[in-house]
Amino acid sequence: MLKWMDSLKGRSLMRLASFSDAEMLDLVDLAGQLKARRRAGVRGDLLHRKNIALIFEKSSTRTRNSSVIAARDEGGGAEYLTRPDIHFGKKESVKDTARVLGRIYDGILFRGFSQKSCEELAKWSGVPVWNGLTDDYHPTQILADLLTIKETFGSLDGCTVAYVGDGRNNVANSLMMGCAKAGMEYVCCAPRELRPDEAILAESAEVARRNGCGIRVEEDPVKGVRGANVVYTDVWVSMGEEAKTAERIALLRPYQINMDLMRATGNAGGKLMFLHCLPAFHDNETEVTKTTGALEVTDEVFESEYSKVFDEAENRMHTIKALFVSALADREAI
Ligand code: CP
Ligand code: NVA
Repeated sequence: MLKWMDSLKGRSLMRLASFSDAEMLDLVDLAGQLKARRRAGVRGDLLHRKNIALIFEKSSTRTRNSSVIAARDEGGGAEYLTRPDIHFGKKESVKDTARVLGRIYDGILFRGFSQKSCEELAKWSGVPVWNGLTDDYHPTQILADLLTIKETFGSLDGCTVAYVGDGRNNVANSLMMGCAKAGMEYVCCAPRELRPDEAILAESAEVARRNGCGIRVEEDPVKGVRGANVVYTDVWVSMGEEAKTAERIALLRPYQINMDLMRATGNAGGKLMFLHCLPAFHDNETEVTKTTGALEVTDEVFESEYSKVFDEAENRMHTIKALFVSALADREAI
């Protein structure tokens, strides 16, 4: 029998701070239950006749496909809507779009630029809205990361996470809060120019203090990763920032994850893993890396025993399903 907290019913996810610590951890737990259930070959009907709008202003492989399959696995439907498909923000305001889609759909997942658009959708649609990435936050990613850490180490307790790279991007912002809420130590290894925003850092630090764990920002990556169990990175240039590519590569080259940096953690074997939200520039097989070579992570680390990136990618689906189910499922139907 699947179990989750009643308080998750009808809830939106704007950023991880939208949930209490217990609710966030309960979602990760529910995702684990749903994963086991799917592995056992069960496709349920927890989302029977539930329809979810997927508004995507930016590209996606994982978030889009996870959302479609999460809904379909449980008997629901999902409609993929890109900017050219709908009037969103061009001929029709976000507020009006929200009021229309809220009459038609049971929930909306939004991937786009502005956090404000995501919040407007939640304010005016009258249905749960989930943030599938904005310029500021990527909360559904971190639910999958927490599930991956929990599965790999058996628990989140006592774990230290070192994020290395662009310390103020959407993934870093949400990871910092996710670690604080889960009671894990977080170290952000980033150059001065890419430190976390002070207000976002202060908000997470407050949560970390409450949970008896720490947050540090460290400029030297070798010093920063010492003692880490999870070494995490993301692209150096996020979607929408392409004009900064050359500048970022120059700034972040010393922050590339390679085996020397993995060794600098002082951990190995079952006490160390590498995570990346993906897509990753780890080889010469993309349009970008054809000329630059590997960027934020070497192929050696990406393909190593430490790398759990494809478990992490799969877990996007189970955690997004947990969000949909906890917000929309009729318990009577279980
Ligand atoms: N990690 C992630 O959000 O991947 P996509 O951009 O492919 O959705
Ligand atoms: N920081 C990256 C995450 C991609 C999943 C971006 O916004 O492009």
